[in-house]
Amino acid sequence: MYSNKLFTPLRYPGGKASFAPLIADVINNNKLAGGHYLEPYAGGAGVALVLLMDGVVRHIHINDADPAVAVFWRAAVRETAELIKLVASEPITMDAWHHWRSMMLGETEGTQLERGFATLFMNRTNRSGILKGGVIGGKAQSGTYRLDARFMRDELCLRLERIGLHAGDISIYEEDAHKLLLRCHQFLPSTSLIYLDPPYYVKGAGLYRNFYRHDDHAQIARLLGSRRFRRPWIVSYDNAQEIRMMYSYAHSFTYGLRYTAQQRYTGSEVMFFSERLTPPEQAQVQKVA
Ligand SMILES: C[S@@+](CC[C@H](N)C(=O)[O-])C[C@H]1O[C@@H](n2cnc3c(N)ncnc32)[C@H](O)[C@@H]1O
Repeated sequence: MYSNKLFTPLRYPGGKASFAPLIADVINNNKLAGGHYLEPYAGGAGVALVLLMDGVVRHIHINDADPAVAVFWRAAVRETAELIKLVASEPITMDAWHHWRSMMLGETEGTQLERGFATLFMNRTNRSGILKGGVIGGKAQSGTYRLDARFMRDELCLRLERIGLHAGDISIYEEDAHKLLLRCHQFLPSTSLIYLDPPYYVKGAGLYRNFYRHDDHAQIARLLGSRRFRRPWIVSYDNAQEIRMMYSYAHSFTYGLRYTAQQRYTGSEVMFFSERLTPPEQAQVQKVA
């Protein structure tokens, strides 16, 4: 049994925490349990945290090229107690929103702790958690919801506490995913799984502060398909024709927004599996022509 709990403090557009049971199935079916796990596009790292806290894997590697996302994870793992103090006590007001926003944008200097908190603050007070988006309730705060609607202090402190308890089992990186993948065999033992959730091909540009162009997506697909790449991997994407072409060498599985073991979907999203990986048993696996 795997928990359905959300362990991540970040809200994430396109967050994939609900995939954790599927990824756990793949890990167990392929004798990768107790190993390492890497998310090169971690965002809220929702899957990674479930796998670690449920004991499916022993160590997680969290990478994100967005400096605001990476500094949040560093603060959460290395300065957990201090971050919890800020979450418990900092005012959630429009003045504070302007202050933390300018820090997140690099216009105001801040320590790792402050910058990490700035990311969390913006993530929890902006609509849909979009860092470059607008504040919940609007600048005039005249909407139905106010900016503190999603800033549940107690719950966030709890989630951070749990992260602190596992700090020794979490490595943080702030690198371009392709560069990290080129050297990941240096820190990933052979009993490891990589789960890649790149920015969406079609609508990624509006959601994240870094976005990918066609060639960036293609470069990753080529690297993963090359003989020299030896760690098992799973990639998830929006179900775009261009992406299916790039991964035409891999087994794929299409699904709706949520995976359940019993139901099959022909969905708007697609997952690809590396060659030697056995996909989840109930998944509708097909080779894309
Ligand atoms: C689809 S989101 C990941 C969401 C994540 N799976 C979750 O459940 O929260 C993609 C992430 O990739 C990051 N990103 C974009 N370009 C990147 C790059 N070149 N290298 C590493 N990360 C990148 C973005 O900052 C964003 O956080």
